[in-house]
Amino acid sequence: MKSIDIMIEEHENIRKMSNVMRKYCYKVMTNEDIDYDDFYKIIDFIRNYSDGHHHAKEEDILFKTLGEQVPKLANNGAITGMLIEHDLSRLYVSNLEKALNDYKKGDDEARLDIIANSISYTDLLNRHIEKENTALYKFANNLLPEDIKDKIDEQCAQIDLTAEEKGTQEKYLGFITELKQKIK
Ligand SMILES: [Fe+2]
Ligand SMILES: [Fe+2]
Repeated sequence: MKSIDIMIEEHENIRKMSNVMRKYCYKVMTNEDIDYDDFYKIIDFIRNYSDGHHHAKEEDILFKTLGEQVPKLANNGAITGMLIEHDLSRLYVSNLEKALNDYKKGDDEARLDIIANSISYTDLLNRHIEKENTALYKFANNLLPEDIKDKIDEQCAQIDLTAEEKGTQEKYLGFITELKQKIK
């Protein structure tokens, strides 16, 4: 499925940003001179690319349709598990944002929460992506009827196109390149 191929590519981009995030955390841990405002860019990436663009396609189209078409996957918790992990990732990100704000107000101990929530997020997402690539996406490919797959592809293509018109992909892939360069 074309839409799934694109989602797998998006996973690679999310992984790249997770690696960048880990490198920033290492510098926080060793108290190196970094621009803490770069973490707000990472949060922007997570909220508007990983979550607002990628997770939205999974939740509103792919997993929704998969649950309707293959009720077994809705009933055995396979899909709910993914949705719960999306929610947990949102919690880590809002805790990270709070820790950053506290640090900027002078709370040095908040650096601990910056690291803890960032690493929790990256660990969760890496495992989550693995499960989707090796299980959920395979279920969709193998279990959905062809006409339904085409419908999912069409709906996702429309969302991708609208995002491209707004420059979403270009902006956030640019963030990966920029921050990767800064953190080397
Ligand atoms: Fe997901
Ligand atoms: Fe995903």
